[in-house]
Amino acid sequence: MSSPALARTRRAFPPGFLWGTSGAAYQIEGGNVGSDIWVLEHVKPGIFAAPSGDAADSYHRYAEDIALAAALGFNSHRLSIEWARIEPARGQISRAALDYYRGVLKTCRKHGLAPVVTFNHYSVPAWFAAAGGFAQPDGARIFADYCRIVTEHMGDLIAVAATFNEPNVATVVRWDGSLAKYKPIIAAVQKAAGAATGAPDWASPLLAGESQHAAIADAHAAAYAAVKLASANRLPVGITLAVPADRPAGPDSGIARKNAEMLDRWLAGPGDFVGVQSYTGSAVGPDKDLPHAPEEELTQMGYAFRPDAIEGAIRLVASRTKRPIYVTENGVATEDDTRRIAYIKGAVAGVERCLADGIDVRSYIHWSLLDNWEWMSGYRPKFGLVAVDRETFKRTPKPSAKFLGGIARAGGL
Ligand code: BGC
Repeated sequence: MSSPALARTRRAFPPGFLWGTSGAAYQIEGGNVGSDIWVLEHVKPGIFAAPSGDAADSYHRYAEDIALAAALGFNSHRLSIEWARIEPARGQISRAALDYYRGVLKTCRKHGLAPVVTFNHYSVPAWFAAAGGFAQPDGARIFADYCRIVTEHMGDLIAVAATFNEPNVATVVRWDGSLAKYKPIIAAVQKAAGAATGAPDWASPLLAGESQHAAIADAHAAAYAAVKLASANRLPVGITLAVPADRPAGPDSGIARKNAEMLDRWLAGPGDFVGVQSYTGSAVGPDKDLPHAPEEELTQMGYAFRPDAIEGAIRLVASRTKRPIYVTENGVATEDDTRRIAYIKGAVAGVERCLADGIDVRSYIHWSLLDNWEWMSGYRPKFGLVAVDRETFKRTPKPSAKFLGGIARAGGL
């Protein structure tokens, strides 16, 4: 038996542990005019505080971003591929777009960053949404074909692949909080996008909620098989899930039960790992969030400031599956970078405790490298380790970037 002193000096983070930052194409590239979200941004009623526009212009500045991430001390980089660029019309594949993303991945490799690649981070091609999204006949096959083509073209450069980012998010969103204002108009926004494009069956998966979940689970299974085959079984393939670290107020929390069932449903599909993403958690009663305690610190998203969330999320997932866990997102929206540093410190310590308890955690990937376009909330929330000037796109690392980069370099706190 090892003494506590020995246990303390043993390194919890194993060699090969991935330290990185995470981004999504639609939120940073800019100009994703072929994607469904672009259509949603330009109809009325609208739900976006600001259009994505040029975003962080990472489409043109990716080499600078990747070099910066590497210089900060990371060894991994999570990014997503914008499907609408690869397949701008159904069945029409852009060789130039495939080459572009191959160039992005090559740049990661050149800088020693292992690419964690997501095939779908919410947005889909507008033509795909117009035809009903994943619920259209053949939706799963169309998505799996796209994943296969990407894998054939650049799979040799990918380290870890995720089919979907948080397809479960609609289940964990509770509409009694800061999102309540969007709920009544979501159906109208989908309808307006359909009217604008002459597509009565329009369904943007991001807004379609649980109605697309069964179809997305099928699409995940088809894509999993396609990527495994196209990579000759080399690539670890999984899904990333939004995992709230709730605090049930009593023994019979319907929400806690619903979340556990939700996890089990998604974990029933194929996967070599689970991507765990957590930001916060709420005190929950039997069927809804309880109001934040008056003394509770809130982030720019209106979430409780919960550096312990990722530990709770990892432990919850580990209690339901033996699959390895990659932390693929965790972070905080704040203008006060000292709070980000405090958040990171708490979060990384929590991951370390999970490892010390024998849970197979393989990465800590922070959301996000850059301040970026935060969906409905536009550009207000600041999740970035690096600030981006909205006029010049100049990148300025914040102290938290050096802090987390230092942890990455040292291999732990
Ligand atoms: C999503 C990101 C988002 C982040 C912060 C995650 O749920 O995957 O796209 O920006 O949360 O809200």
